[in-house]
Amino acid sequence: MANKLAVLVTLLALSLGPAASQGQGSNICFNGWLRLPSSGTCPRGSRPDFRTRQRVPAPTGEGLSFGYYNNNNSYCPQAERIVKDAVKKAVDQNPGIGAGLIRLFFHDCFVRGCDGSVLLTATASGNSDTEREGPPNKDSLRGFEVIDAAKAAIEAACPGIVSCADIVAFAARDASSVLSNGRVNVPTPAGRLDGRESFANETDQLPGPFSNLTALEDSFWAKGLSPDEMVTLSGAHTIGHAKCQFFSSRFADMDPTLAAKLKAQCNGNDGTFVDQDDVTPNVLDSQYYKNVIDKKVLFDSDAALTNSTDTVTQVTDNANSAGAWERKFEKAMESMGKIGVKVRGSSGAEIRKVCSRVNN
Ligand code: HEM
Repeated sequence: MANKLAVLVTLLALSLGPAASQGQGSNICFNGWLRLPSSGTCPRGSRPDFRTRQRVPAPTGEGLSFGYYNNNNSYCPQAERIVKDAVKKAVDQNPGIGAGLIRLFFHDCFVRGCDGSVLLTATASGNSDTEREGPPNKDSLRGFEVIDAAKAAIEAACPGIVSCADIVAFAARDASSVLSNGRVNVPTPAGRLDGRESFANETDQLPGPFSNLTALEDSFWAKGLSPDEMVTLSGAHTIGHAKCQFFSSRFADMDPTLAAKLKAQCNGNDGTFVDQDDVTPNVLDSQYYKNVIDKKVLFDSDAALTNSTDTVTQVTDNANSAGAWERKFEKAMESMGKIGVKVRGSSGAEIRKVCSRVNN
């Protein structure tokens, strides 16, 4: 175990260059993604505190509009239907892919804005150490094949019109709808262009499972999202799976029955995946907030939502008032989809032909 961590730290130090120390305890690194033994220090060259601690204004999404692909300049009226069909087919086969698609959207938007940078393996600068290689994403993100299938079908119908960034946003909306049995409908204006760069080390802008409440709030404020939106969006942890390495240090802080079950599932293997929500694992609902109250959540970052009066109030409201969380989640997802968008006229942006690589 110690050896494994040492290797991971070395790899991080080599591959990330300026990795981030969170400033919330010397043994938590890369904005909450890496937890070292208490004697460990973050990789050399760590940025001492990457966060601005600034409240960035809420994203406006200027340039985005509803029904964007129904208009003359960007005409591809089949686009949204094609994505919806691809998502439905994939999620019917494996609900976990729906969870993956919702997370893909979050990880896209938080790094360089919602510009499809999370999909890239080949970039304009020739960098191959892209976001997909970053600690939050590597061996973890899923759903890429659904985006690729939708993109291929859309290119066949109307080449060069629909961006990968918009496909990611549509897919997250559609996955939310399917997994909530139609109860969550995220308004999704479109018109995003695709970026041409992607860097693994920038994924430290995503808060990690070992983040405390301040780090969570700061990471969201840095993107113009409020603590309330952070609490609301964390509700996505009512679906999908997580690796044991992110919570095996905190069995003692969990509900004992759940802890025993998880311990048996993990069986000492940090790479094993388990369901995030033991109660309704494949339904996008407000069960997460009941789990937070009952100590049935996996991560420190989930449990941290009980650490302030404000967040406790939101958790309790979301747990108890039917339909309230769903409406807030729709709004917060719409806001998230506006972060840092590149739109017509933006420099360094394009409509990719293939989502994993930039055009020549
Ligand atoms: C608040 C800070 C957040 C932290 C610290 C966090 C952390 C994590 C971690 C560690 C995993 C497990 C990954 C793995 O084991 O491979 C995960 C899974 C997931 N997260 Fe988050 N997350 C956060 C916010 C969000 C948000 C805002 C969304 C979407 C709106 C989201 C959606 C998901 C989903 C759906 C999964 C399951 C993915 C799958 O099954 O493929 N998370 N998250």
